[in-house]
Amino acid sequence: MNDPVNLHAALASFDQIYSPRIVARMNDYDVRVAHTLGEHVWHVHEDTDEFFLVLDGEFDIALRENGAERTVVLHAGDVFVVPRGTEHKPSSPGGAILMFEPTGTATTGDRYEGELPAHIDSTTGHDLTR
Ligand code: NI
Repeated sequence: MNDPVNLHAALASFDQIYSPRIVARMNDYDVRVAHTLGEHVWHVHEDTDEFFLVLDGEFDIALRENGAERTVVLHAGDVFVVPRGTEHKPSSPGGAILMFEPTGTATTGDRYEGELPAHIDSTTGHDLTR
């Protein structure tokens, strides 16, 4: 079934934080949306870049590059790509994001650091239930 999906309606259909819903599939890629709040975990995707578009609020991404750490601060309308192989840790005071990444990409990467907090869903994305 291929019907139009409204992103605002999709986001309103679930409350879980850091638990992406797949709103579209294209070639070998998923388009996912998620609510963001609080700290994610340091993780890395060894084989793929990860695209983010901030739909609402603020979304920050800490990055470890060449032994240094920096944080990009993103607001609604901002896009950013985390390069493959780059350790990153998202955090947010509250917001919503759209991600574009290969189907099967895990939210917690190929590996992550430390314990997984209860508010973080380790998933390759959930189907949108309508
Ligand atoms: Ni990631």
